[in-house]
Amino acid sequence: MGNVTDASSALEGRAPASYIEVQHSAPLAGEVVVPGAKNSVLKLMAASLMADGIFEISNVPDIVDVGIMADLLRAIGLRIDIDRAHSVVTIENRGELTPVAPYELVERIRASINVLGPLLTRCGRVTLSMPGGDDFGSRPIDMHIAGLKAMGATFKFGSGYLEAFADQLHGADITFEFPSVGATENLLTAAVLANGTTTIANAAREPEIIDLCEFLQAMGAEIEGVGTPILTVTGVQQHDLHGCEHETVPDRIQAATYIAACAVTGGSIDVLNARPDHMKIVLARFTDMGMKFEPLPYGLRVRAPERLRATDVATLPYPGIATDYKPLIITMLAVAEGVSIVTENLFPGRFRYVEELQRLGADIRTAGHHAVVRGVPRLSGAPVESHDIRAGAAMVVAGLAAEGTTMITGVHHIDRGYDNLVGRLSAIGANISRVDV
Ligand code: EPU
Repeated sequence: MGNVTDASSALEGRAPASYIEVQHSAPLAGEVVVPGAKNSVLKLMAASLMADGIFEISNVPDIVDVGIMADLLRAIGLRIDIDRAHSVVTIENRGELTPVAPYELVERIRASINVLGPLLTRCGRVTLSMPGGDDFGSRPIDMHIAGLKAMGATFKFGSGYLEAFADQLHGADITFEFPSVGATENLLTAAVLANGTTTIANAAREPEIIDLCEFLQAMGAEIEGVGTPILTVTGVQQHDLHGCEHETVPDRIQAATYIAACAVTGGSIDVLNARPDHMKIVLARFTDMGMKFEPLPYGLRVRAPERLRATDVATLPYPGIATDYKPLIITMLAVAEGVSIVTENLFPGRFRYVEELQRLGADIRTAGHHAVVRGVPRLSGAPVESHDIRAGAAMVVAGLAAEGTTMITGVHHIDRGYDNLVGRLSAIGANISRVDV
């Protein structure tokens, strides 16, 4: 296989206890390039379990979770090279698979649940450690299980593991009560090799789901309704599937992170590779806040006002405003003129970072799944801790708008989903550095 630049210790998730130091920054200016999406590439990698052959996935972000997913897939039997210099992951699947996903790897990333559908449909059985929750609450998989049962799978649970069995899955008509991203992905992949036709109604339709559909199609799968709430999958035979090449969709959450950083510093930047068509509603809310956007051939020109304005925001499944944007949005509103109400509709417990923003002087009250944000003219630097990926990025953005020094610990969370956040921000003028100890 090609040139191997394998996972370093950082990519393998064993980075030392690092911290990020941010000082109040002048308006950001320049260009930043958005890498590929974590929440797509991890699923593409898992889907490569389904076919023998070579898969070449490009535009892969250099993030810790890619290394963890690679380790998990290696444990199952794939050969994986990570070429960080070219942002390419090459996967060789020779069909020698052991459909067991051990605790040590599964507990490290939520996306490990994405091996369930591919392994079950291909191998007829899976043993998978039950995926844990995140810092923002428990994350059940009842919809994944109910959908796979409707396709003929049986399950056993015990000692923290689930075992799934299905000699041959069959097509089914499935209607989700809620368009779960993970459940859509697992049923979609499982349906590719099932006997007959599966329809998934009220399916999630995030850009990352479309990316997965296109990857599966390139592999030989038959899927209709891509990008709509009704996906129809006609099962194919194992020998119809093959390896493929695919470019990962750009990361809309990383794109929004650079927009937020620009916003709180009153800057003007070009966010290259951003896909405004994937961010319509969040960009509309940012526009309400006073931001100005202009599409570029390959990205988005962003101009921030001197001071942002308050606006109300509610998270919803795509095309609504993703819950992953919310820590960034709350940070922007924390320094905006006026009072905003932010409502979380996906993960009710996802407000923990608010305490950290309060330490920086933000005036935010939470009640149930609402937050009332009273904008203040300026935050003041303090030590804060990042408890999850998106919260960590929000702390960094907050630090840019805070007087003095903000020290952010829990950097390993940020490393899970951000490709060189510090380097990218620093290149557009942020006063930021990282210390690895
Ligand atoms: N849910 C259930 N039962 C299920 C599945 C989901 O009750 O069987 C509930 C969840 O508890 C949650 C809601 O449905 O309240 C949304 O869950 P969903 O399945 O849509 O999310 P996910 O697949 O677990 C992915 C992303 C998250 C992102 C959410 C929502 C990955 C690896 N994770 O999670 O991203 O917040 O979709 O868009 O793709 C992150 O990247 O930091 C992150 C947390």
